[in-house]
Amino acid sequence: MNELFNISEKVIVVTGATGILAGGAAKYLQRNGAKVVYLGRNQDRVNQALSEGKNISADCMGLTCDVLDEEALEKGYASVINKFGRIDALVNGAGGNMPGATIGPDKEIFDLNLEDYSKVMDLNLKGTVVPTLVFAKAFKEQGDGCIINFSSMSSTQALTRVLGYSNAKAAIDNFTRWMATEMALKYGDKVRVNAVAPGFFISRQNKALLTNEDGTFTERGQQVINKTPFRRFGNQEEVYGAIHYLLSDASSFVTGSVLSVDGGFSCFCGV
Ligand SMILES: NC(=O)c1ccc[n+]([C@@H]2O[C@H](COP(=O)([O-])OP(=O)(O)OC[C@H]3O[C@@H](n4cnc5c(N)ncnc54)[C@H](O)[C@@H]3O)[C@@H](O)[C@H]2O)c1
Repeated sequence: MNELFNISEKVIVVTGATGILAGGAAKYLQRNGAKVVYLGRNQDRVNQALSEGKNISADCMGLTCDVLDEEALEKGYASVINKFGRIDALVNGAGGNMPGATIGPDKEIFDLNLEDYSKVMDLNLKGTVVPTLVFAKAFKEQGDGCIINFSSMSSTQALTRVLGYSNAKAAIDNFTRWMATEMALKYGDKVRVNAVAPGFFISRQNKALLTNEDGTFTERGQQVINKTPFRRFGNQEEVYGAIHYLLSDASSFVTGSVLSVDGGFSCFCGV
């Protein structure tokens, strides 16, 4: 393998590893020689992800904990160090939206459910900050390490309906830049923090929003396609390369960046 892109033997903790994008990426990383920690909040789904991981190689483990539960994450941190002796990277994949924090077509902004809004902010923002504070301690000690956060197209443009999610993802962009700066200034140029900003990929959460049961696009799905020069949604595999790049020495001078993987959605005004 090209040494620039060699991630073999790297110990990589992936949160949201029971989901579509981060879960698929976790298995991709393992297939490329990494030792992967599958972190998710649902025991059955972690077991399922782990058994798929074990079919790739024995070098993996599962952690069942909520990304907002600092105590559980600390225990998880100790068990990863105990098993693998180090941590090379953290991929903060857990995240998503919640119906109550959405302003649907039949609602107006004044209907916003503040409780659900806070939950979405917490899951996406604190759910990235807390695991970072727990697992990045290894990077301080080792003097090297990588963090990859998940941003979104909604972080820089107003995407209708998803207010809480957009606010949280905008804050993740800021947190990515902030942590990149903090880590480099304090611990040197081997600790890097970046984000990927996926465009639109079909996941458990957005499938019904973007596609009808017969596979045709919903009205919203069609609006997304109209603003995507590639005229299609992404395939989950198309995020893996960006993650691989950001985890490897190929990006050794890259920190604080948010890499769009979006078929051109962010560069096209739609006309
Ligand atoms: N699918 C897309 O089009 C898209 C676009 C932009 C950004 N993203 C972001 O990519 C990331 C992965 O999304 P996905 O599409 O794979 O979604 P997904 O729903 O398939 O995966 C998210 C995972 O996070 C887990 N999770 C949720 N809350 C958790 C918690 N409190 N603790 C631990 N785990 C928790 C879920 O169980 C799930 O396995 C998310 O941050 C999402 O916001 C997705």
